[in-house]
Amino acid sequence: MKNIPFLNLKLANEPIEEELKQAACEVISSGRYLHGEHTQLLEQEIATLCQTSHCVAVSNGLDALRLILRAYIEMGRLCHGDAVIVPANTFVASILAISDNGLKPIICEPDLHTMNLDISAAAQLVKAHHARAIMPVHLYGTPCWDTALNEIAQEHDLLVIEDNAQAIGAQAATAGLNGTRTTGGLGNAAGISFYPTKNLGALGDAGAVTTSDSQLAATVRALANYGSDRRYHNIMQGLNCRIDELQAAMLRVKLRHLNEEITRRNAIVKVYNTAINHRQVTTPAIFAGTTQVWHQYVVRVSRRQEFIGYMKENGIGTDIHYATPAHLQPCYPTLATHPMPVTELLANEVVSLPIAHPITTDDASYIAGIINSFPA
Ligand SMILES: Cc1ncc(COP(=O)(O)O)c(C=O)c1O
Repeated sequence: MKNIPFLNLKLANEPIEEELKQAACEVISSGRYLHGEHTQLLEQEIATLCQTSHCVAVSNGLDALRLILRAYIEMGRLCHGDAVIVPANTFVASILAISDNGLKPIICEPDLHTMNLDISAAAQLVKAHHARAIMPVHLYGTPCWDTALNEIAQEHDLLVIEDNAQAIGAQAATAGLNGTRTTGGLGNAAGISFYPTKNLGALGDAGAVTTSDSQLAATVRALANYGSDRRYHNIMQGLNCRIDELQAAMLRVKLRHLNEEITRRNAIVKVYNTAINHRQVTTPAIFAGTTQVWHQYVVRVSRRQEFIGYMKENGIGTDIHYATPAHLQPCYPTLATHPMPVTELLANEVVSLPIAHPITTDDASYIAGIINSFPA
């Protein structure tokens, strides 16, 4: 019997360990640990990847989203109490970024097929709550974008803030914008997470804001550095949300390998989706014309606890993203203003299968074989 853990970060980073060590040594010897060359170059490289004019590297993904919203408040584009539409089935950080700024998160049901925001439900909520902004989350690495979302944003003059924590490098089909565009450059601004488990993961915390709005980028940059536009000159009551130079250097090494990683994950997904044919296991949808980056490969199983136990007995690790949606967390007792049946169904059924390096396509067929023998 094979033993396949869900994720082993040491093994995931092993192929590039020497490159990482060399880059770390260079930073240590440079004596420059903040605001250095690696941070500047990382920002340029991420902006190029996301097809935006600006990138501001920051401390983590939650701070990236918090800073965007705070900057829009400082710029007078949002006011305390304004409604922001956000999917109910996201990681809690998307929602924390909104409530932390005194804005009102309005949670919206996802679409069962895409597992991303249900755009028509979002349109209803925009009208009902006079929303000023919408936060599509590219969950599991699948872009949450279509023409309908764009039209709603334009019709209601919404700020579109992408939660791009899980989808760096993904491409969405965009009518009228020359075919495809990369996530992070679809809306007005986007927050990226470089949490260690992400496809582009630091060796600690890090994140970034991408945008083509120069005023927003400058405001975020100042806010992230005590609200100062130059040394010891504070134009806002800011925060300290800077990225470490060491993490910027690690990320630049890993960025060189991101495309290989996306290609590798897509090959594994192809095997999983073709080979898994158990009638009680629903595989995720692959969307033509988009590039999904498969931060997680998530199936749905109604007998989840039995399934997870069965996988464990067979040496296969799994995980759940996410078992308890924000509106059922103790910190958000009044978040849900209407029933959330799709969100709760997903929360009860989703199971993530191993996909990170060193999982191979052979492992994926082996795992699919085990799944197909799950006693019905
Ligand atoms: C969808 C989503 N949003 C926001 C975040 C927050 O990112 P971080 O952990 O870097 O603060 C994460 C990741 O953890 C995430 O998955």
